[in-house]
Amino acid sequence: MNTVGNTIFITGGSSGIGQALAHRWHDLGNTVIVAGRRCSALQETIEGRPSMAFYELDITDPDAIATVARRLIAEHPDLNVLVNCAGISGVEDPTIARDLSRTERMIETNLLGPIRMVDALVEHLKDRPAAAIVMVSSGTGFVPYPGAPTYSASKAALHSYTVSLRARLRNVPQVIEIIPPQVATDLLEGLKDSPFSVPLAKFADDVMAQLIAHPSADEIVVDEVKPFRFAERDGKVDEIVRDMLAGT
Ligand SMILES: NC(=O)c1ccc[n+]([C@@H]2O[C@H](COP(=O)([O-])OP(=O)(O)OC[C@H]3O[C@@H](n4cnc5c(N)ncnc54)[C@H](OP(=O)(O)O)[C@@H]3O)[C@@H](O)[C@H]2O)c1
Repeated sequence: MNTVGNTIFITGGSSGIGQALAHRWHDLGNTVIVAGRRCSALQETIEGRPSMAFYELDITDPDAIATVARRLIAEHPDLNVLVNCAGISGVEDPTIARDLSRTERMIETNLLGPIRMVDALVEHLKDRPAAAIVMVSSGTGFVPYPGAPTYSASKAALHSYTVSLRARLRNVPQVIEIIPPQVATDLLEGLKDSPFSVPLAKFADDVMAQLIAHPSADEIVVDEVKPFRFAERDGKVDEIVRDMLAGT
């Protein structure tokens, strides 16, 4: 994707990775619109940044997606980049019967959300120059974290969907997958303080550096996630799963 001259819509732009990327794209001179459920967090995200805007959006609500997409196209007709970053996680034990409401919400947010968002904007994006669809998946989509089986499965499915979308669109719009490692955000309790988490600013800087250096790359794979992304190729899946299980 182009580094500058874009109008970018980012779901999950109210905190964490989405917010950090939003600020970096905005610092480069792009127009950036963020979305999320928390109005105050969205307001903080755009504070002091004139060419940023926000929409309140619950990505699990198909009607809200349709409404926001209509507003986006009307109010920002130059929109040429969709970034699907909104996501939730959760640890769970699939070996015992349990309340599945959070589990179902993970699938709705992490998989159905991006599918519905793409559906709402793909016709518009096909007509825009230098358009791109960016999906934020996870290293755990490539090697599942056994402590969060549904989360990992949702990200594996998102990767699969992204590969199909890229093939079917023939990259017009360009389809890019950002694959984060464990990053210090509020996604899960303890992530911010974990010595195994990549600092958020470092991750966002590394992503931007790769996007700028390799504008036609299909995937953004920072160093810390390479063992996960290439585990299948390297025959390491079982070993990494065992190691993670020992740590749960
Ligand atoms: N941190 C990691 O270790 C890690 C690793 C791999 C992948 N990822 C992925 O990176 C993405 C961003 O996560 P993060 O780590 O930055 O965590 P985060 O700080 O908790 O950010 C999650 C974002 O998603 C938004 N969101 C959640 N549910 C939503 C809903 N129903 N509708 C609209 N927005 C919703 C949140 O906004 P509101 O609360 O305002 O709605 C928030 O902006 C996620 O897709 C996550 O799976 C993170």
